[in-house]
Amino acid sequence: MTAIQGFIKPNRRPGELGVHSLDRFHFVVPDLGEAQNFYSEFGLSVSARGNRLELAASASPHVWGTIAEGPRKKHQYLSFGVFEEDFEPFAKRLQAMGVTRLDPPAGEESNGLWFHDHDGNLVEAKVAPKVSPDEKGSFGSTSAAPGVRGQTSRSQTKRTPPRRLSHILLFTTDVRKAIDFYTRVLGLRLSDHSGDNIAFLHGIHGSDHHMIAFGRSSAPGHHHFSWDVGSIDDIGAGATHMLGKGYSQGWGLGRHVLGSNYFHYVRDPWGSYSEYSGDIDYVPVDCDWPSGDHPPEDSFYVWGPNPPSDFVHNYEA
Ligand SMILES: [Fe+2]
Repeated sequence: MTAIQGFIKPNRRPGELGVHSLDRFHFVVPDLGEAQNFYSEFGLSVSARGNRLELAASASPHVWGTIAEGPRKKHQYLSFGVFEEDFEPFAKRLQAMGVTRLDPPAGEESNGLWFHDHDGNLVEAKVAPKVSPDEKGSFGSTSAAPGVRGQTSRSQTKRTPPRRLSHILLFTTDVRKAIDFYTRVLGLRLSDHSGDNIAFLHGIHGSDHHMIAFGRSSAPGHHHFSWDVGSIDDIGAGATHMLGKGYSQGWGLGRHVLGSNYFHYVRDPWGSYSEYSGDIDYVPVDCDWPSGDHPPEDSFYVWGPNPPSDFVHNYEA
């Protein structure tokens, strides 16, 4: 038995308090039909529940995001998942740090811990299954054997929908304060940053290189959701499909420095983005990632086209 247990990887970092997953995001847009069309074409499963849309990906029925109607596109809140045994310790931590607990927003059934972050964004920590990956996801390509055709015709090419949410990038008025709040209160860890411009944080119980990232702006806001896919072909086929559906603006194909992922960003109807992302670095539960401060000119992307001039514009500001 002992020998068998030796091969079971721990699913939590012992003795430390930290959220394990980014469970769900919620935002509002003026036209739910527009959102339904964009995310369906992107490859997500979009279903209506009550007055909301729910977004799921292909690897599980988990709802990664919900969308409601509002006067203009605006980020509303993030819900992070915690292990059941960590709920009370988190409640005590909030109290000890003087973080005010709030009532859930009207209409929310969840009775997690609700509070504001350093920017006034609404955040929830709730007991939930771990939906961040427990290991690095598969990524690759198949090479045809000699004498065998490697590609079917374009009309027969099948798209592979994104497998799961990888991360979200928010704008913040103060990247240092974001790092401080999300590490000290939520127990995330700094993966890498570039001065005061951008920071990437991961979960301590096994997580992608970033579960959440923060980019500097004059106001809070949402920049992109990132969705994990399994190959360069998946990224390219997704981007080409979106182009054919009229979602022609974006950035890619390229490869990031921090996180190392291959990417193609598709601009959504509100000036923010959804990213097809593949092969992002993974931080195992027993790994202390060596975080670094990287110069701006050497931290954004390794190769790819120039980004659009307004790529980092905050349209929620
Ligand atoms: Fe990203």
